[in-house]
Amino acid sequence: MDAFAFIIHPLDPKTDVARKYPTLARILPVSLIHFLSLYWPPLVLSHARGIRSPATGREVEGWLLACPLTARRMVTVSPRVAYRKIIQTGRLAERLGARILGLGAYTSVVGDGGLTVARALQIPVTTGDSYTAALSAHTLLEAAAQVGIAPEQATVTVVGATGAIGGACAQLLAPHAGRLVLVGRRMEALTRVKSRLSDIARGPVEIATDIAAIRSADLVLTTTSAGRPIIFPEHLKSGAVVCDIARPRDVSIRVHREREDVLVVDGGLAEMPGGVGLGFDYGLPPGLTFGCMAETITLALEGRFEDYTVGKELDVARVQEIARLAARHGFRPAPLHSLDRPLPPERIEAVRQKRFPK
Ligand SMILES: NC(=O)c1ccc[n+]([C@@H]2O[C@H](COP(=O)([O-])OP(=O)(O)OC[C@H]3O[C@@H](n4cnc5c(N)ncnc54)[C@H](OP(=O)(O)O)[C@@H]3O)[C@@H](O)[C@H]2O)c1
Repeated sequence: MDAFAFIIHPLDPKTDVARKYPTLARILPVSLIHFLSLYWPPLVLSHARGIRSPATGREVEGWLLACPLTARRMVTVSPRVAYRKIIQTGRLAERLGARILGLGAYTSVVGDGGLTVARALQIPVTTGDSYTAALSAHTLLEAAAQVGIAPEQATVTVVGATGAIGGACAQLLAPHAGRLVLVGRRMEALTRVKSRLSDIARGPVEIATDIAAIRSADLVLTTTSAGRPIIFPEHLKSGAVVCDIARPRDVSIRVHREREDVLVVDGGLAEMPGGVGLGFDYGLPPGLTFGCMAETITLALEGRFEDYTVGKELDVARVQEIARLAARHGFRPAPLHSLDRPLPPERIEAVRQKRFPK
């Protein structure tokens, strides 16, 4: 049977390590978890069977693997050290018989976004960023529709627009946005992203390096690899809708607690075909998965064993193709969630009323 493997790693050292080693996570201090993570070997977290395409009836199996480097370690060690650990985990996938490898969370963020890892392995690799981008743009527009915001009359901002997912989302949102503001850290990189939008943008496109630029936004899509919150209550206007793709999240928990007039939804979530699970609790409600995992499984179900999404510049034609393939094999954009929980209709109504008082 065709098989995939997908690599995850601890983002929050205590919570995520506890999913596999509850006792160790309880007794070890966080600093020691960060330190030890570099020396821990890759491991198999689960073996999932019976993932079936409703369109073709084809079934695949797959392994969830842990690359035991915490997110903080992943970005503080040199890319060479991080690559070595990811490649070691990829070799485990090869020995298990996987025919394609997905790179989760920071294993796709680090360095060149999977290019070096793909060159070192015998099996093809995908970051899963294409489907994540498609799902996230969809989620932002869906949340906007539910609140009653028309994107063509709105200011839309993309934070992290110079990144792989951010750049693709800018291209997906440009044809819809009344005004588009791209936020990043480097002016010249933002100028390059903006130049790709000239033929497709519906309205004016502006660039900014100060996060304060999101204060005028009705709709915000945020997708940085800052690894810590960068969006705080004072940055958002009343009635704004924010789609947070980043893991760890970009939006501070204070926004959720203090801004009842703002809607924050999770990006990059999909429903699994038939609601099947992967046999390991990685923190999402049952039946849901991350876009990057869904892309990997879709490629296995489709029999597309190739380096599908690698590098930091995504091809929008591929983003659109993988969304079609995922839908064909039974994946669906997840209903709106916030902090990994279904969004109650009252929350949407509360923001709608703040925005359009009667
Ligand atoms: N939900 C899902 O299924 C899913 C799937 C994949 C990835 N993700 C998450 O999506 C996020 C982006 O992934 P990616 O692959 O697009 O990463 P990427 O290509 O490395 O892009 C990261 C972006 O973040 C910016 N950035 C980095 N540090 C920052 C800081 N301190 N302040 C402000 N901006 C900062 C970068 O700016 P520069 O260009 O200036 O460096 C870049 O624009 C990550 O958090 C990742 O974990 C989620």
